[in-house]
Amino acid sequence: SDVKVVTIDGPSGSGKGTLARRLANRLGFHLLDSGALYRLTALAAQKAGIALDAPEVAALAESLNVRFDADGAAYLDDVCVDDVLRTEQTGAMASQIAARPDVRTALLARQKAFAVAPGLIADGRDMGTVVFPDAPAKLFLDASAEIRANRRYKQLIERGLSANLSALVDEIRIRDDRDRNRAVAPLRPATDALVIDSSDIAIEAVEAQMLEYLRARG
Ligand code: C5P
Repeated sequence: SDVKVVTIDGPSGSGKGTLARRLANRLGFHLLDSGALYRLTALAAQKAGIALDAPEVAALAESLNVRFDADGAAYLDDVCVDDVLRTEQTGAMASQIAARPDVRTALLARQKAFAVAPGLIADGRDMGTVVFPDAPAKLFLDASAEIRANRRYKQLIERGLSANLSALVDEIRIRDDRDRNRAVAPLRPATDALVIDSSDIAIEAVEAQMLEYLRARG
């Protein structure tokens, strides 16, 4: 097709969000932050007083009233929720509902709709395996749990939010274990993905590797 989809999957704090935004800007592509949709669904449930394991969460995911502004900030029912959206607490709630097949199915069409010309950078856990299995370019970004917790810690502090490093390491481990070991759409590289471990590489070098991979694929 004439829409080029590039998938970037990986665990939290691997740097894929930042890299997805940089690649999208550089290539003039659209951006799908699929994690934000799971986070927004969790926030919407919380706001409506619906338990995360209640059947109603799937319908809520389907009818979510969300938009993203030009900077990628998320709005739920026209209210900017970006700060609360990015907390580790919201990430943990998102990971709980993300283990539910009905919620994943409810968000599928919405995610596919982001693939419009000239192209899309799709950031998540199952972009290359489930949502865009036919994407011509697939990347998987990894890094050690300690380094990922450290990056997330710096991000939170930069945003003026409170953070506790050792608690973050624990929370990130718990969330990753759940994401990697769930029955539906577990976090894993697609068989045809290029896997990059960013533990000891600066973000600029990772971006250069990604651009080289994309250039080689046309
Ligand atoms: O990427 P982010 O940290 O915002 O994702 C939050 C949570 O949403 C993840 O821990 C994961 O459980 C879930 N998620 C998912 N599939 C995606 C994106 C996110 O299951 N494509």
